[in-house]
Amino acid sequence: MSRKVYIFDTTLRDGEQSPGASMNTDDKLIIARQLLRLHVDAIEAGFPISSPGDFRSVQKIGQLAGDDAAVVALARAVEKDIDCAAEALRGASRPRIHTGLGVSPQHLREKLRISEDECVERARRSVAYAKRYVEDVQFYAEDAGRADQSFLERVVQAAVEAGATVVNIPDTTGCQLPEEFAARIRGLREHVRGIEDVTIAVHTHNDLGMATSLALAGVREGATQVECTINGLGERAGNAALEEVVMALRMHEDALDAHTDVVASELTKASRLVSRVTGMQVQANKAIVGANAFAHSSGIHQDGVLKARDTYEVIDPDEVGAQGSELILSARSGRAALRHRLAELGYSFPQTEFEGVYRRFLEVADQKKEVFDEDLDSLAQERERDV
Ligand code: KIV
Ligand code: ZN
Repeated sequence: MSRKVYIFDTTLRDGEQSPGASMNTDDKLIIARQLLRLHVDAIEAGFPISSPGDFRSVQKIGQLAGDDAAVVALARAVEKDIDCAAEALRGASRPRIHTGLGVSPQHLREKLRISEDECVERARRSVAYAKRYVEDVQFYAEDAGRADQSFLERVVQAAVEAGATVVNIPDTTGCQLPEEFAARIRGLREHVRGIEDVTIAVHTHNDLGMATSLALAGVREGATQVECTINGLGERAGNAALEEVVMALRMHEDALDAHTDVVASELTKASRLVSRVTGMQVQANKAIVGANAFAHSSGIHQDGVLKARDTYEVIDPDEVGAQGSELILSARSGRAALRHRLAELGYSFPQTEFEGVYRRFLEVADQKKEVFDEDLDSLAQERERDV
């Protein structure tokens, strides 16, 4: 049996930080129900001190989830944030406080204006303070991707000694190469005492389009929690997309010695729901859940898929709850796809006549982006009239 990788969904916290994606409590509850159907392991429900609405969302999702998922509240490494997070989580069966602070030179110098020693101390104090309220405390080392490695190890050591159950290593600015990020996780495992008893989480952003690769690089080095969002929503270019992480782990379970318990057949539904609720459209060519993820347009590809689906499809659309593969008829399509679709619509022509239908099809296709079934109906009926 491969290692289990815990899926920590942060659609309702980091995902909501996508410009334009804000959600009210009812919206968040609708999405939380779908996250539970997906069987994610942890739901980061919000940042309670940031607004009364977020406080309420964490409270309600805590009650909704019961024992089915850990419910997580974000708190900066500041006592009043932690107090507020603890209060919001009071009714949750599996509460987790997620506290931390920036650890890169940029964060220490410009944002926090503290020394390295002060940062280590704040990490230790905030985890210990959160432990007064809940057993499950997750520490985040914001901007770990740009931190000095030995300093990062000192901060994480302090968090582990103070009782963190999870240490979250974010590449907050999505700037690392996968092998650099992997080396960070390896370094932490080699140098932080007691880290073998805590969960290492990776939290990656997509500024260079590599959030999923970074997360998988972390898993390869022993991380057993991946933080991600539906449709890759999140600050700036977004977070690692949950659907990509889950499907990559399914496909490469042996190579990565890792699996998740997510119900993949709920992925498409989750994507559509999040898009509808947030109003954030999913780009058509988005991996796994985009409208074109299982659509084939060129004649060469269509011919291949008609002969054997896996010529060009490595994921069965059923596996992710999608409608099935689609052949898009356009001026790039060939005879095989046209004949196939006509047959599905109930038309068949002898070879001699079919050539005429195909020529006419190309004339129509050159005028439009896509040829629809209504166009094929008229085209076929025209031909039937002519003979
Ligand atoms: O990107 C980040 O560093 C975060 C932390 C708050 C975990 O979202
Ligand atoms: Zn983030």
